[in-house]
Amino acid sequence: AAAPVALSAACAGDGVGFATEPARSVAGRRRPLPIPPLATATTDASGVRRFALTAGPGSTEMLAGTRTPTWGYNGSVLGPTIRARRGETVAFTIDNALPEATTVHWHGLHVPARYDGGPHQTIAPGARWEPTWTVNQPAATLWYHPHPHGTTEKHVYRGLAGFFLVDDEDTPSSGLPSTYGVDDIPIVVQDKRFAADGALDESGSTDVGLLGDTVVANGFADTYLPVSTELVRLRLLNGSAGRMYNLGFSDDREFDMVASDGGLLPEPVRLTRIALSPGERAEIVVAAGAAPVLLRAFPFEDGAGLDAPEATDAGVHDDFDVVELRPTTTLGPSAAIPDTLATVPSIDPNAAVARREFELQWFMINGQQMDMARVDFTSAVDTVEVWTVRNVDNWPHNFHVHDTQFQILDIDGATPPPELRGWKDTVYTPPGSTLRLALRFSEYTDPAMPYMYHCHLLLHEDMGMMGQFLVLGPGEQPLPMAATGMGT
Ligand code: C2O
Ligand code: CU
Repeated sequence: AAAPVALSAACAGDGVGFATEPARSVAGRRRPLPIPPLATATTDASGVRRFALTAGPGSTEMLAGTRTPTWGYNGSVLGPTIRARRGETVAFTIDNALPEATTVHWHGLHVPARYDGGPHQTIAPGARWEPTWTVNQPAATLWYHPHPHGTTEKHVYRGLAGFFLVDDEDTPSSGLPSTYGVDDIPIVVQDKRFAADGALDESGSTDVGLLGDTVVANGFADTYLPVSTELVRLRLLNGSAGRMYNLGFSDDREFDMVASDGGLLPEPVRLTRIALSPGERAEIVVAAGAAPVLLRAFPFEDGAGLDAPEATDAGVHDDFDVVELRPTTTLGPSAAIPDTLATVPSIDPNAAVARREFELQWFMINGQQMDMARVDFTSAVDTVEVWTVRNVDNWPHNFHVHDTQFQILDIDGATPPPELRGWKDTVYTPPGSTLRLALRFSEYTDPAMPYMYHCHLLLHEDMGMMGQFLVLGPGEQPLPMAATGMGT
C-alpha cells in the first residue's frame, strides 16, 4: 500500500504521463496529492486527548516550481487532520503566530458556544486559546477554519483550513474503505489565482467573492493520487471562498455517495456528479478501474440555478481538474459497499416548538447585516425547530448553521434528492428557492455566548450575511455577551 505523503514533502513528480493531459496542467507532470498528516495528541491521566495547533505564515509550492506565501496550521498550508472518537474529550492549545487576530471554528461540530471559535472568540497575535469539549455526534467528515468577523475570506483563502474526522462505534464504517491516506483520502478543493510573482492574488473580488482560475487539491495544483485498492473513499470538502463545484469523473463513471456533511447516509446513493457549495462535504466511494481517471469539476447543467452572471464571467463554468486517480498495476481487494449504512432518525417537523424565517438578500439576512452586539433570537435547548430559508436574490447563496446538523424537509416544496436526505450543516440555496429545515440544538446552553448562522460564501459572510442566536435552558435569561477568546 502507498504511504501517505506528508504535506511538507517536496512532492516531486514521477513523470508518468496521462493519456489526455488536460490543458490546465501547469507543468505537464503531476505531483503526488499531499495527504494532511493526522494530528498527534497526548492523552492525559483523565483520558483527555490534547492537541496543539499553531496558525502561522509560511510558503507553499502550490504551483510546481513557484513559492507562494501562505498561512497554515502547524505547517505552511492547511492543517493536520484532527481525528477523535465519539465520547472522547478533546482539548486544544491554539497559538496565533499570524500578524493579525484570527479564530478557529469547528465547522459542523457540536461544541459549547464559548468554544465554537466564532467571531467572538478571537485570538490576538501571540495569544493562545484553549477550547475543550466532549465529542458527541455521529461519525462524519468535518473541518476547522478561521471565522474572524470581516476577514474570514482572506484567512481561509491564504490557506487556513483542516479536516476534523469523528469516528463513532454506533455508526461504524465497516465495509467502507477506512485506512487513512491509503484508501480513505481527505481532499479539500479550493480555487486560487496567482499574481506574477507567485503570491495569491487577492484583488479583483467578484460579487461572490474571490474566484480563482486554478484549482488546488489539498493545497497543490496538478496532482495524482496513487490508488492501490479496488475501491477508494474520497472525503471531499469544498473549502473555497465562493466557487461551487459540480464534481465527477472524466469518464463519467458512477460512484457511491456514502456520507453528507454530518455523517453517513441511510444507504449509498449512485451518482455521476455531486454539487458542493462552499463548506459542504461529500464522502464518495469509487472504483479504481484499470486506467487513470480525473476527478474533475464540470460545468453545471443549464437550469441548475448556480450561475450568477458575474460569477459566470469570472469562470464558474470552466472545467477544472481536481486530481488524477492513478491505479497501481495490482489492486488490493476491497469489501463491497454495504447496502445500508446508518440509521438517520427523522426529526419530526410536527414537533416544532418554533418556526423561523430567513430571507437571504444581498449581504443581509432578514434585511439586516450582522451586528456582533445583537442576538437575533433565542432557541430552547432540546426542542425541534423548523426554519424556512428563502433566497430572494438573483445571486447564489448557501446557508450554514453552527452547533448542529439539520435535515432538509423540502426544497421548493419537493422532497430533497437522496444525496440531501442525510445530516447537513450547510446547504446550497439557489436564487429564488425556498428550503425548509428541521433542526434541534441539544445539550449545551449559554446565556452569554451566541452561535452563528450565515451564508458560507465567505465574502457574503464577511459583508454581514450572518446572524446570532442563543441556546437557552428552561428559565435561563440572556446575559450580556462575554468575549471568551484572547481578545484584541
Ligand atoms: Cu464554516 Cu460559520 O462556518
Ligand atoms: Cu451568499
